[in-house]
Amino acid sequence: MGYNVAIDGPAGAGKSTIAKLLAKEKGYIYVDTGALYRGLAIHFLDRSINAQDIGAVIEAVKEADVKIKYEDGAQQVYLNGRNITERLRGEEVGRMASATAKIPEVRDKLLMLQRNLAAEQDVVMDGRDIGTCVLPDAEVKIFLTASVKTRARRRYEELTGKGESCDLETIEEDIKKRDEQDMTRKTAPLKKAEDAYLVDSSDMTVEEVVRTIAALCKS
Ligand code: DC
Repeated sequence: MGYNVAIDGPAGAGKSTIAKLLAKEKGYIYVDTGALYRGLAIHFLDRSINAQDIGAVIEAVKEADVKIKYEDGAQQVYLNGRNITERLRGEEVGRMASATAKIPEVRDKLLMLQRNLAAEQDVVMDGRDIGTCVLPDAEVKIFLTASVKTRARRRYEELTGKGESCDLETIEEDIKKRDEQDMTRKTAPLKKAEDAYLVDSSDMTVEEVVRTIAALCKS
């Protein structure tokens, strides 16, 4: 059985940045579960499926084979044998992932994949329902959050840093909508596990957050 660290929280809280650094420091594998939902989202987008058409999503999910591989220590996502890692971070993909993640058949498709990864090795796994649903027995559970304004600003800086044009207000609206969608869905909603530590990163540096979480893990 692997040593499991679960980091959940809303979009833009810094989960992936923190989880990656923590994994490196501790020598654990970093598993970005959002990338799996995004991988399925690409499958739906490529088939021009409307997220509201639940029947079509359920049919399409049966034909999707999502896999995670590690190449030079970096997580790569494969969809039906093709490496789609480069396409994962697009805004359209994020919206489709959030809209379809509420469908139980979509979540079921990814549940065992995530559990198997955590059973085989020491992992830092980030997502929305890792501490509450995927790994309820994780040794360390973190609920990482930050204010909507802080999260929107971080996302804006990330996108403009990559040369993409974007608008701060639209990003803020998008984040609010994503929060609402992730927190109010019936199946495995985003919420803090009772035994999770709450970390609000709004006024913390990345190093401070990593140090805080690292101190909770086995040495
Ligand atoms: O973390 P992210 O932005 O890459 O995730 C994209 C979407 O996938 C997110 O809006 C909700 C969904 N998701 C989920 O429902 N459960 C997870 N464990 C991870 C992501």
